[in-house]
Amino acid sequence: MTLPINQIINKDWIEAAKELPDQSVHCIITSPPYWGQRNYGVEGQLGLEATPELHIEKLVAGFRELRRVLRDDGTLWVNYGDKYAGSGGENDNFSKGIKKGTVNSQNTNLDSGNLLGLAWRLALALQADGWILRSDIIWAKGLSFCDSYSGSVMPESVNGWRWERCRVKVKELRKRTGGKIAENQDRNDADGGRIGNQAWNEYKDCPGCPKCEKNGGYVFRKGSWRPTKGHEYLFMFAKKQGYYCDMEAVREPQTSDPNKIKPAKGVKNVCDETTGKMMRFKPQEIFFNPSGRNLRDVWVINPQVWSRAHYATFPEKLVEPIIKVSTSQKGVCPKCGSQWCRVVDVYQQKLTGSTGKTKVPNANNWEEINNRTNRVSTTLGWRPTCGCQSEISYLKSLEPIPAVVYDPFMGSGTVAAVAAKLGRNYCGSELSKDYLDNQANIRIAEAETGVTMEEIEAGQGALFE
Ligand SMILES: C[S@@+](CC[C@H](N)C(=O)[O-])C[C@H]1O[C@@H](n2cnc3c(N)ncnc32)[C@H](O)[C@@H]1O
Ligand SMILES: [Zn+2]
Ligand SMILES: [Zn+2]
Repeated sequence: MTLPINQIINKDWIEAAKELPDQSVHCIITSPPYWGQRNYGVEGQLGLEATPELHIEKLVAGFRELRRVLRDDGTLWVNYGDKYAGSGGENDNFSKGIKKGTVNSQNTNLDSGNLLGLAWRLALALQADGWILRSDIIWAKGLSFCDSYSGSVMPESVNGWRWERCRVKVKELRKRTGGKIAENQDRNDADGGRIGNQAWNEYKDCPGCPKCEKNGGYVFRKGSWRPTKGHEYLFMFAKKQGYYCDMEAVREPQTSDPNKIKPAKGVKNVCDETTGKMMRFKPQEIFFNPSGRNLRDVWVINPQVWSRAHYATFPEKLVEPIIKVSTSQKGVCPKCGSQWCRVVDVYQQKLTGSTGKTKVPNANNWEEINNRTNRVSTTLGWRPTCGCQSEISYLKSLEPIPAVVYDPFMGSGTVAAVAAKLGRNYCGSELSKDYLDNQANIRIAEAETGVTMEEIEAGQGALFE
């Protein structure tokens, strides 16, 4: 058994995993088909199980096989969305072409409209199966109460309680005039937000009916409002304690200037970044790292649609930080696969003014009085984390090779493309030959060459002009 580096296996994810060697990949990043959401049109596809329980059981079994393939110091990242009982998938066309008696979002024993909590059911099931659940990252697509950004989400039809003008279908009128009727006009009663302008135009104010006459032309509707879904989960799992992670690779800019932070009164509980322990600090001792702060667990990323895919794919921005933090930029030992690690210098730096020079202490400035210092971490270089080099010292050096990122549900190949862009190797599986040939492979070629298919096609057109 060898790992087919930089290839996507055109097989069922479990069948593919069974053929892979133990401990051969450094990290797994994936978005499995959600339950009852989409019909990928391939025999053996996941997501069409009769109940959510069966679906999660299958996922757990597959990830168990992949746990064998993942290195002991590797991590697994699973993106998963949620669903409401009684809601159809894919614009209600979901059941077309699917065998009777398979998936049905009514198969839940829950009242319609109930949030199924599938993402958390999956996370807890994986935890029960032995994975260490390390983080429940919120992939925020839409935000509220944020002045500078609102994001973009799938439109949903939600409504509250309201009195509405009574309207009647133009159908009745059209029938008489012999005109055509819009297909979706029957939906009007269910929900106002769902129908397009065309359908609205198919309704006219009611001239008076038993429903509205006594209410001055209005009817009372009870919508079961809830906020529009603006997030999905990204769960981070470890196989064992002591997994590889490179926090320096994903630091983000500090949002406030340490020279401007005012001290809170009294003593504060602060998490020490190095030890992870909560420590009690006097305000003036709170450290500030100009190299950036640690990544948070709410990631605001707009969904990204790749032009050739006809369904939601991973945004590349979601995959980038995962690859950066879970695989070494420098690479891995070619002999044993251990990831190289940064040599980091952590030192205390005196606070300086905007000129970069050390400030003369100012009696009116609290931080200078307290002679506060910053903790700065800088990368000096990289070192292997195994002893292979010394064992075979007769060789000049064991040059590192790229780490391997695996995605069992490659789809349009986002994980592979981002891995290629970041200089990592990839591997994975995808059941649909169509997606593989017409999406993933094209996308990877684009990532590897830096030239898009559109540019190539445009270029070829120019040749024959
Ligand atoms: C949510 S999509 C993944 C999208 C991917 N993250 C991207 O960015 O394009 C799930 C993929 O799983 C594939 N799939 C469904 N059942 C499968 C199975 N049993 N084995 C392997 N792949 C499967 C589907 O064809 C689909 O491409
Ligand atoms: Zn009426
Ligand atoms: Zn080694």
